[in-house]
Amino acid sequence: MTTSPIIQLRGVTKRYGSFTAVNGIDLDVQPGEIFGILGPNGAGKTTTLEMIEGLRAPDSGTITVAGFDAVTQVDEVRKIIGVQLQSTSLFPYLSANELMELFGHFYGIADPKQRASDLLARVDLGEKANARMEQMSGGQQQRLSIALALVNSPVVSFLDEPTTGLDPHARRSLWQTVLDVRSSGTTVVLTTHYMDEAEFLCDRIAVMDGGRIIACDTPEALIRSLPQDAIVKATASGNPAWTESALAALPGATSARLTADTNNTSIAIGSADVQATIVALLALADRDDVRLTDLASTSANLEDVFLALTGRSYSDSAEEEVTA
Ligand SMILES: Nc1ncnc2c1ncn2[C@@H]1O[C@H](COP(=O)(O)OP(=O)(O)OP(=O)(O)O)[C@@H](O)[C@H]1O
Ligand SMILES: [Mg+2]
Repeated sequence: MTTSPIIQLRGVTKRYGSFTAVNGIDLDVQPGEIFGILGPNGAGKTTTLEMIEGLRAPDSGTITVAGFDAVTQVDEVRKIIGVQLQSTSLFPYLSANELMELFGHFYGIADPKQRASDLLARVDLGEKANARMEQMSGGQQQRLSIALALVNSPVVSFLDEPTTGLDPHARRSLWQTVLDVRSSGTTVVLTTHYMDEAEFLCDRIAVMDGGRIIACDTPEALIRSLPQDAIVKATASGNPAWTESALAALPGATSARLTADTNNTSIAIGSADVQATIVALLALADRDDVRLTDLASTSANLEDVFLALTGRSYSDSAEEEVTA
């Protein structure tokens, strides 16, 4: 594919005082993709988005959006992008319709009323057109804020953590909304700290940590880059005389962990060849008269990618930041 990127960042750095929030990042977003920036709290995701949106100027580096410079041509950039506002900052006493029309007037679009009803229908809020913000659920408010980010038919739509705080059902319904936005031809750049969301929704993901992009690829390619492609798990009744190094030497195995309690031993084996590893494990159990229960294999996921890249577990990084 030789399409030129719709968004391009080169050597972009942002400092707050002596603290470097974004540290020399390069990024290409292709037209028509859903591009995710994934990273724990404080990774630099929002700062990066705000620089692309022209809301913050980088200290160094260049950013272009559809060929416009995000620093020197910020007015042109703003016309062609849609930015999702945090729902809490929207006027609580205006109805969905009124807010949509207000935004339509801001952007000077031809028929704000029609646009409002089209977009509200598209995000499945047709029945809530006359409801005030304060009368809507969190998920409905998030969907409205996405509709507001689409009023000017943007070339690129930026969604900063569009599903944070939603229940699992509302999150999945919002994923569908994002997919619909992309189907209509809009490029979507979103941030998230949900691994499953990034994996399901994004064509490509930039994994950010400490202001740097530590990996950028399709979710599948990121996962495939791991030395193990699956984890074989089982519970052994009793405490067999097995060692982690012996299990890690089974066919296909790349690593192994044993956790024993009084009655059982939990087994987890990283494997690049699930079939070979399971066959060997069953043979071993047979030979040593060990009964295995809960035998299962799970594929590696982005959580494992983050661990492999940083040496830290993703959930621990997130918690550290929250309590810091
Ligand atoms: N206006 C500011 N002044 C000083 N430091 C800031 C400012 N804005 C952000 N930072 C710092 O820059 C770092 C990156 O912040 P940013 O908001 O970009 O992170 P994030 O990845 O969006 O995190 P989150 O997942 O919590 O939204 C953080 O350590 C933050 O404390
Ligand atoms: Mg943020």
